[in-house]
Amino acid sequence: MQSTAPQQINEIPGVEEFRALRIACGLSDRNNEAASIGLPNSLFATTIRQGKRLIAMGRVVGDGGCNFEVVDIAVHPDFQRQGLGQKVMQAIMDYLHAHAPESAYVSMIADDHAPALYKKFGFAPTAPASIGMALKIKR
Ligand SMILES: CC(C)(COP(=O)(O)OP(=O)(O)OC[C@H]1O[C@@H](n2cnc3c(N)ncnc32)[C@H](O)[C@@H]1OP(=O)(O)O)[C@@H](O)C(=O)NCCC(=O)NCCS
Repeated sequence: MQSTAPQQINEIPGVEEFRALRIACGLSDRNNEAASIGLPNSLFATTIRQGKRLIAMGRVVGDGGCNFEVVDIAVHPDFQRQGLGQKVMQAIMDYLHAHAPESAYVSMIADDHAPALYKKFGFAPTAPASIGMALKIKR
């Protein structure tokens, strides 16, 4: 069977496929409540699909003026190292350059080898001047 070329669409992924792709990529789960509340509040989201299958995604969240955060950058392991991460980041950069005001601060947490991807788009480590800090909500 011939496989279709991946198609990129700037849209918010569905809750189930979003959770499944995060897990397939080795990222921590976001539960159904968190994803159902969070995804519709995205400032921007991009997806790449092969047919209907979600194979890559990325989002921007924040206040739309002062602070933006790049989150949920994920490419399914079957499709990594084929340039899809760069396509996701390019769509995010296009959004930021079009919508983020002068002086806006764009941040992210970069795992594993992801810093090499983000450096291509102008991001730089905050350390040693400052370090990122995080808290995971547990109930
Ligand atoms: C990080 C991730 C999104 C990269 O996606 P990708 O589609 O494989 O990336 P690309 O093919 O577009 O590669 C872009 C650049 O990223 C870097 N990179 C990607 N995979 C890498 C790897 N395994 N080792 C080292 N560098 C890597 C390289 O600099 C690469 O550029 P190059 O091909 O010119 O060397 C993907 O590996 C992934 O989803 N990882 C698991 C989830 C994750 O860690 N997400 C990031 C959370 S911060």
